[in-house]
Amino acid sequence: MAERHLLSSRLVVDGDFVVARVDDRLFGSFVEHLGRCVYGGIYEPGHPSADGEGFRGDVIDLVRELGVSAVRYPGGNFVSGYRWEDGVGPVDGRPRRLDLAWHSTETNRFGLHEMASWLGKVGGNELMEAVNLGTRGLRDALDLVEYANVPSGTALSDRRRANGAEEPFGIRMWCLGNEMDGPWQLGHKEAGEYAALAASVAAGMRQIDPGLELVVCGSSGHGMATFGDWERTVLDRTYELVDFVSCHAYYHPERLADGSRDMASFLASGVDMDGFIRDVASCIDATRARLKSGHEVSISFDEWNVWYIDDEPSRAPEGVGNWPSAPRLLEDVYGAADAVVVGDLLITLLRNADRVGSASLAQLVNVIAPIMTEPGGPAWRQTTFYPFALTARYARGGTVLEPRLSAGTTDTAKYGEVPAVDAVAVRGGDGSLSVFVVNRDLGREASFEVAVPQGAGRVWRERVALTLHDDDLYACNTLGDQTRVVPHDNATLKVDEADGSLSITLPPVSWTVIHLS
Ligand code: AHR
Repeated sequence: MAERHLLSSRLVVDGDFVVARVDDRLFGSFVEHLGRCVYGGIYEPGHPSADGEGFRGDVIDLVRELGVSAVRYPGGNFVSGYRWEDGVGPVDGRPRRLDLAWHSTETNRFGLHEMASWLGKVGGNELMEAVNLGTRGLRDALDLVEYANVPSGTALSDRRRANGAEEPFGIRMWCLGNEMDGPWQLGHKEAGEYAALAASVAAGMRQIDPGLELVVCGSSGHGMATFGDWERTVLDRTYELVDFVSCHAYYHPERLADGSRDMASFLASGVDMDGFIRDVASCIDATRARLKSGHEVSISFDEWNVWYIDDEPSRAPEGVGNWPSAPRLLEDVYGAADAVVVGDLLITLLRNADRVGSASLAQLVNVIAPIMTEPGGPAWRQTTFYPFALTARYARGGTVLEPRLSAGTTDTAKYGEVPAVDAVAVRGGDGSLSVFVVNRDLGREASFEVAVPQGAGRVWRERVALTLHDDDLYACNTLGDQTRVVPHDNATLKVDEADGSLSITLPPVSWTVIHLS
């Protein structure tokens, strides 16, 4: 039984002090040709809900509900061996290929046209395309931009039209490769080598369209031995040519010597993400200063999530003759604590909205995903679906207010004493106020107050307070029990009618959204 009110916390926000507008792109996700993300995830011809193109209708409904704004595609590690032209043209003529990244067979039945069409059906979400800088380079990147974005009258644009897309795809945002600092990456490069390649590819792509928004690879993790040096080398060479530098981060509760998991540190993962963002922002600022540049480069946090990377579901197939098509891979089943961490990572991204202009939850369906599917069967929401969907619902289109937070601390092995409560507030365009808050403490409830000075005398007519919490940190949603963990109304919300301030009680290990309008 939790001890009551041992923690107290207070957030002060003032509408005059803002961090930044919430960029829609903060609610991006990621679809990689990996496991069952595409095949059996978004695409399953013959599924009872599938349309004429083989897109699962039940998945489209859930993606809409999730509130995803943009999708990064087609990888990930996959892109470093990908030939984009394999995935266009008549489906029956497309080659089957070895996917070296995930030791699988790629059938290419789904490619660029299918992705563009699927996004149109989801609701016009932005496509963020990655080019292969592992096994390929400038020529192929230019060909892809011409194929995708030039209206007509050239060999490749006319090939696109002949393949059924009269209008160009108009892709604005492009990733210059994926995790090129990672030794696991096919075609991995040293920083200087990658910097030179990325600079030439960026310059070439801009010769086709100077308005493209380009993402250069930053480090694939805060803890990489080359972190910092990589950013400096790559940004020095590409700074004026790119708009974003990427960050990737995955978290999981590490195993302790006694076999248990370090949940306290895991719940404080937002502390690491916050430091990662600050460190990369410092690298950007240092380069801008060195180059005496007026150009702004933002962060694209284009892979983030909880990922039990060392566990069995992440073990890729092995064996010379064993290259399965769309195997079950990285199918992590998320518990209640995982959802709290995902909620906290979203709070961290929002709080840094002045530096992070784009982010992608990795990934979307089946593969470390908020949505799971069964072949021929249902699709359902993982625990992590809820903080994402509710944050997207209440924060999109808003402005992050500068948070002044005071909170008691909780002890962690990895990060020392950290604030037990983390929170951020977003003012909606309609004058509403949304507060997102986590209690990271493993055992103590927290009382949480929000002071809204300029809201004195305000009467909030719509009041929503939803909390995601389960006494069992590992409780999860499964095929057999799809709604075991869902957010519940938090009846402890109190609003002071005189000044509009509010208070609420947060259970230990919980994520809460409060929305007042
Ligand atoms: O999202 C899974 C993998 O994680 C991606 O393919 C890669 O970019 C990262 O290492």
